[in-house]
Amino acid sequence: MNLIFLGAPGAGKGTQAEKVSDKLNIPTISTGNIIREALKNETEMGLKAKSFIESGKLVPDEVVIGIIKDRLAQDDCKNGFILDGFPRTIPQAKALDEMGIQIDRVIDIEVADEKIVERMSGRRVCPDCGASYHIEYKKPEKDGVCNNCGAELIIRKDDKPEVVLDRLNVYHEQTEPLKDYYAEKGILKAVEGQEEVADTTALTFKALED
Ligand code: AP5
Repeated sequence: MNLIFLGAPGAGKGTQAEKVSDKLNIPTISTGNIIREALKNETEMGLKAKSFIESGKLVPDEVVIGIIKDRLAQDDCKNGFILDGFPRTIPQAKALDEMGIQIDRVIDIEVADEKIVERMSGRRVCPDCGASYHIEYKKPEKDGVCNNCGAELIIRKDDKPEVVLDRLNVYHEQTEPLKDYYAEKGILKAVEGQEEVADTTALTFKALED
């Protein structure tokens, strides 16, 4: 199955993609994670993306389209994949169509803006392996320490409340129109992002079956 997970920043795309990825045994491709990794390694692309990502703006289309083209050409995508955070603009969606990629379903996780700001302020991430936690909803075993690699957890620069508000504006302006784009193709399924992660997961799997 070739899937897209759509939704506002912090709606829970990454959290749900991980569950579906495990169950269907298909990779999750997160453009955000790929860009953050490039930033950490100070590659040319990472340095180009730095100011955009840290201020909550979108990285230019041609950069992310290039990332996705390369990633989808890899062997592990042959039996399906989940795109988490791509496409984020209409030109990105059109580029995906032009690559001849057939998308089976687009899962749109819906969460109100007020809830997003609250969720993001509690997120903590591992700077080494990228694992994501929440101080209330997904606690690490030991406070402030990554379960996987023992690194000290940090707050993402773009999770500061003022940047989250900018990311939400960018989402409403540039990404939300994708709902209509995929609804017209008849492949959009809306899932309400519930309080409990497990409830959203149940709704997500249902949306994949219908
Ligand atoms: P990216 O990394 O994709 O960030 P995002 O879309 O803003 O999404 P997040 O990863 O912040 O949130 P999420 O929806 O995955 O939520 P999560 O599951 O973590 O992109 C970052 C930046 O990269 C962009 O701003 C842009 O600059 C650039 N970029 C990336 N892709 C691009 C593209 N295609 N084009 C251009 N630029 C691009 O959950 C959030 C928190 O809430 C977690 O702590 C989680 O534990 C908690 N949580 C999740 N579900 C629940 C629940 N049901 N109840 C309570 N808490 C929950």
